[in-house]
Amino acid sequence: MNLTTAVTPSKIRDMNVLSCFQAEVVLQARRQSAETAVVSLDLGLTETAVSLAPTHILLPDGQTLAWEQIEEITANELACYLIADSAIEKIQLFSEPLNRFYSLMPTASAPTMLISGIPMHRIKGTNPHRDTLSKIKAAAPIAGEVLDTTMGLGYTAIEAAKTADHVITIELDPTVTEICRRNPWSQGLFDNPQITRLIGDAYDVAEAFEDGRFTRILHDPPMFSLAGHLYAAEFYEQLYRILTPKGRLFHYIGNPKSKSGAGVTRGVVRRLQEAGFRRVKPNPQSFGVVAYK
Ligand SMILES: C[S@@+](CC[C@H](N)C(=O)[O-])C[C@H]1O[C@@H](n2cnc3c(N)ncnc32)[C@H](O)[C@@H]1O
Repeated sequence: MNLTTAVTPSKIRDMNVLSCFQAEVVLQARRQSAETAVVSLDLGLTETAVSLAPTHILLPDGQTLAWEQIEEITANELACYLIADSAIEKIQLFSEPLNRFYSLMPTASAPTMLISGIPMHRIKGTNPHRDTLSKIKAAAPIAGEVLDTTMGLGYTAIEAAKTADHVITIELDPTVTEICRRNPWSQGLFDNPQITRLIGDAYDVAEAFEDGRFTRILHDPPMFSLAGHLYAAEFYEQLYRILTPKGRLFHYIGNPKSKSGAGVTRGVVRRLQEAGFRRVKPNPQSFGVVAYK
């Protein structure tokens, strides 16, 4: 069965999203008896002035949030909150087909997504934005037609689209797209006409692309134990086939210094070489491997 469908562009318009980082800024202003606070309503991308009243805060669009709601947001370090009709709603969804629970987890920078409790990006000693930049740098210069095999929150696709002609990004689970709609940092997925989103299994979708189509492939799969077929020799042969001659693959793996990361890296390097890739080299800064056709 071919699960591939193009997803029609749409997003949640003019949304306000808060996390503990921004809610704390508002509480701090209240402690100082300020009448206004400058705070981000899109998880740090822009800043806005909000009015502070004795019982609530007033947002520029007329919505209000009671101080109890602000305190609830401040107390939760694991979820971001969408604000709609003066109510707050945790950004978290359960995917029945995959039996996975997703939640948008704030950081001082871009949020990451927890998949059944595991962060999707590196957050120890770095943040999801810097993690994304290191992946892009490993494959730079990014130009021409790019394939991003696993969309997630879309950060690699959005960053690649800054210099590429066009980016195709694939996501297995439509519920992940629903989280993206609620994440201010993922809006490029819906706004940027240079990005095409596909829903399907990258393993199957890759088979349908013509030979030599992509100048760059960014492969940032779930860990080996969750998606072994995206680390298989047959899949690497497909990636090799659809890469343009002299094209480059970036393959995220995980901490090369961890026992499992080192073992997976050795296997990945060997199978990429067997699939025909040359100059297959670990790139420790990005926790990945770079390979050329
Ligand atoms: C590590 S995240 C990718 C993060 C992404 N690069 C970003 O910038 O946010 C892996 C994503 O791959 C998706 N996924 C898992 N198996 C897949 C498959 N077989 N094909 C396509 N996507 C898959 C997961 O649902 C998850 O959203």
